[in-house]
Amino acid sequence: MECVIRRWKIEDKDDLAELLNNKNILNNLRDGIPYPYTVKDAEEFISSTLKADKTKTFAFAITAEDKLIGSIGVFRCENIHFQTAELGYYLGEKYWGRGYATSAVKQACKYIFDNTDIIRIFAEPFAYNTASCRVLEKAGFQFEGTLRSNAVKNGRVLDMKMYALLKDKAL
Ligand SMILES: CC(C)(COP(=O)(O)OP(=O)(O)OC[C@H]1O[C@@H](n2cnc3c(N)ncnc32)[C@H](O)[C@@H]1OP(=O)(O)O)[C@@H](O)C(=O)NCCC(=O)NCCS
Repeated sequence: MECVIRRWKIEDKDDLAELLNNKNILNNLRDGIPYPYTVKDAEEFISSTLKADKTKTFAFAITAEDKLIGSIGVFRCENIHFQTAELGYYLGEKYWGRGYATSAVKQACKYIFDNTDIIRIFAEPFAYNTASCRVLEKAGFQFEGTLRSNAVKNGRVLDMKMYALLKDKAL
């Protein structure tokens, strides 16, 4: 079964709140997403995403059979890094393990390289996040090194892994 990435719609708010109100997802992301995650939080996220600068923020809903299953975003960096962008993603837990994230990452990267001047997309999963590292490897990203003690999450000092995909090397 394939997934599709598309622009967010405000009507996604109920499904998004249901998907993201889950510590097993939030524990693998940066801080700043509220928990519990409510429909109001989801509505605020979608509306800010829709208003964001379209040259810098590329945020997509991930759907399968027309149902929201996750989120993926590519965010342009600043200053000398303006042709570099950071990738982030998650899926609702019941959709894990079916290849959806790998497909969504490939689709988002293709969109960015086909439609923008971005030349490098990177992601920094926590080093223990084997599933996410595997997704990036399957999507053609190269492991560039371990960022030691690069974050404190839930009171734990964590290593992160730097993965990147270059425009001329994309699958
Ligand atoms: C990471 C995440 C997006 C993966 O989504 P997914 O749709 O399950 O990923 P895929 O099915 O495309 O691929 C997962 C791969 O990891 C492997 N994997 C999963 N858990 C694993 C584990 N504990 N150890 C080793 N490999 C693992 C799977 O076997 C699969 O590889 P394979 O196809 O070679 O068998 C999903 O687990 C998620 O949303 N997690 C919470 C949020 C998160 O971590 N986001 C990324 C932040 S950097």
